[in-house]
Amino acid sequence: MSFQPFELEHYQSRWERTVEVNLADSSVQCLVTREWLTADEQAALLSTGLYYPEVNGSAGLRQRIAAMYPEASAANVLVTVGAAQANSMVCQAILAPGDEVVVVSPGYRQVWGLALNAGCHVRELILTPEDAWRPDLDALDRLITSKTKLVAIVNPNNPTGTILTDVERARVVAACARVGAWLLADEVYQGTELGGQPETRSFWGEYDRVICTNSLSKAYGLAGLRIGWAVADRETIQALWRRHEYAVIAAAAPSMTLAELAVSPAKRSQLFARQEALTRAGWDVLKDWLAGQGGRFSVVPPDATAIAFVRYHLPIESVALADHIRTATGVLVAPGSLLGTEHHLRITLGYEPAKVRGALDRIGASLDRLVPVSAAG
Ligand SMILES: Cc1ncc(COP(=O)(O)O)c(C=O)c1O
Repeated sequence: MSFQPFELEHYQSRWERTVEVNLADSSVQCLVTREWLTADEQAALLSTGLYYPEVNGSAGLRQRIAAMYPEASAANVLVTVGAAQANSMVCQAILAPGDEVVVVSPGYRQVWGLALNAGCHVRELILTPEDAWRPDLDALDRLITSKTKLVAIVNPNNPTGTILTDVERARVVAACARVGAWLLADEVYQGTELGGQPETRSFWGEYDRVICTNSLSKAYGLAGLRIGWAVADRETIQALWRRHEYAVIAAAAPSMTLAELAVSPAKRSQLFARQEALTRAGWDVLKDWLAGQGGRFSVVPPDATAIAFVRYHLPIESVALADHIRTATGVLVAPGSLLGTEHHLRITLGYEPAKVRGALDRIGASLDRLVPVSAAG
């Protein structure tokens, strides 16, 4: 069995430090530590003890996380190194060779790759822009069989920015329940809703075999803390914790100090409002730019996230196009094929609007040299 690398993350880590503008990421502009902490909070950070912290996450942090999930307690929470580690522990704990795993495509592809590397059969629920990225629920029913061990969804979704409706949520849960499959709900984009929509409800509590993962990387703008978590029934948390001890022992103590502040209700609202303002401004910039692109791009308006998953109507594969853009302009964007869908680029908009506009203009000019606007279909 050959190893499946995480191609999207590798593409980003390969280029993100040498380009001028990185729009391949999927967070908004992350904060600088001093920017969001009062003097007392900075003092709390400096007083953090640097012995090994509580392995499953500091009690205070787990309590605050649990408070965001109805009827959960700190025993239902494991603090991890980002949602990435939480997802990884879930796959390690649940999957065995030969299991079937259902994922959504386009998608973040982490569970897709982890499942392949665990010797599982991965079946993809394909979303299309023609259906506005809405899931075909009958197709989902057909994909989930008695051999399905895990169904992995990302809600709101990366890269499409869609949020499942109540009907879609109920069908996903019912399809899992029909065969007793685990449902992994990656909810890292909770809190990035656009247009004054309510915060996306967690799947927690909707099914006894649900595991929810989340982190501080997206809506909170604190990716560098590398703090995430899993919320599940106590037995499952114990199973994840046993793997966590092998993988990392514990998340970092200073990060947990800051995380406890970030998830406090007041700070959380403040961070979410900042993220929303950046996202809204970024979308205004994109809409304006697209209007001048002569139809060579199209995008399905998302419900959430600062990510534009832009379809281009040009005869070139997405890795080649992203490479052309990078070498011609110094702007990094993510090729759609690395998220499972060709002829798309993932572009992050949650940065200073002038920076985003400047980078988009450079992309437009570089495409004019490749295929003039008048020749694009
Ligand atoms: C859907 C999804 N899940 C998990 C992650 C990992 O995030 P982190 O480990 O920073 O929490 C990402 C990062 O892009 C993501 O998009």
